[in-house]
Amino acid sequence: MSSSSVSVTSGATARLLPGGPVADQVLAGVAASVAELRAAGVTPALATVLVGDDDASAGYIRIKQRQAAELGFASPHVRLPASASQADLGAVLADFNADSGVHGVLVQHPVPGHLDYDRALAGLDPDKDVDGMHPVNMGRLALGLPGPLPCTPAGIEALLAFHRVPVSGREVVILGRGATLGRPLAMLLAQKRPTANAAVTVVHTGVADWPRFTRRAEILVAAAGVPGIVRPEHVRPGAVVVGGGVRYEGRRLLPDVDESCAEVAGAITPRVGGVGPTTVAMLFRNAVEAARRLSGVG
Ligand SMILES: NC(=O)c1ccc[n+]([C@@H]2O[C@H](COP(=O)([O-])OP(=O)(O)OC[C@H]3O[C@@H](n4cnc5c(N)ncnc54)[C@H](OP(=O)(O)O)[C@@H]3O)[C@@H](O)[C@H]2O)c1
Repeated sequence: MSSSSVSVTSGATARLLPGGPVADQVLAGVAASVAELRAAGVTPALATVLVGDDDASAGYIRIKQRQAAELGFASPHVRLPASASQADLGAVLADFNADSGVHGVLVQHPVPGHLDYDRALAGLDPDKDVDGMHPVNMGRLALGLPGPLPCTPAGIEALLAFHRVPVSGREVVILGRGATLGRPLAMLLAQKRPTANAAVTVVHTGVADWPRFTRRAEILVAAAGVPGIVRPEHVRPGAVVVGGGVRYEGRRLLPDVDESCAEVAGAITPRVGGVGPTTVAMLFRNAVEAARRLSGVG
């Protein structure tokens, strides 16, 4: 048996679609672009903002800063106390907006409950929005205009392309219409491009009989954030299953896709190391592209 297959009790195997090699390829391109920018006298800078004392969020920011440094980015960081006001956060973002030496800005999510993340994001320069979630960038995506793409959807398109999963002309069903994943992914995969071009259906709680749709999907993307919601009986035999939705209970990761789906699927993302690494890689790709655009180099 190949090491890139999942073994299941029935004897069936689903080809695994890991995100690690996809991320490595994307990040190699990012590192090369960073080197070109630096050779032209531009140090790409990805700023990070953390509000509050949440250990997990602080950990995620540290990992991204370390990776930014490894890739050659400067990574100025601002940490605000948990008591920071909306105006404090807005002022930090306004400073980064005005700083021509900062090309990308990442506000670690979630922010403390008294703050409105979406309102803060709306105050960020859309060209510095490395998450690709600013309303202007969502609008650009809807219109097919260039701009930073939302990281998780862009990572899923890259993952399918890397593993040579044909998407064009095929039926994709996405379970979930959230702003982070389902809705932008639907827009992305319906675009006129060889790695997209799909017939996309989005199902959600308003579609009580959603398994009727997922069972006919050639590519099924779970984007609900409901642990174990996708079970083998929801999967068309031989389909490609992408697990995007996850919930964390403490440090425990609970994916939407039940492991037993590997008994039915033809290919499936691994429980850990699937969509996650591609999301992070896309963040750095957005950052280096922002640096190119804003500096006029390349
Ligand atoms: N792997 C990664 O790197 C990564 C990155 C970002 C996000 N995520 C994950 O992606 C997931 C989606 O995030 P999001 O912000 O886009 O979405 P969201 O706002 O959490 O919305 C979830 C969506 O799933 C639907 N849904 C929930 N329970 C359902 C059910 N029982 N039956 C049918 N539909 C159901 C909801 O339907 P309604 O609209 O009808 O309520 C909604 O559209 C989350 O789990 C998040 O953690 C993963």
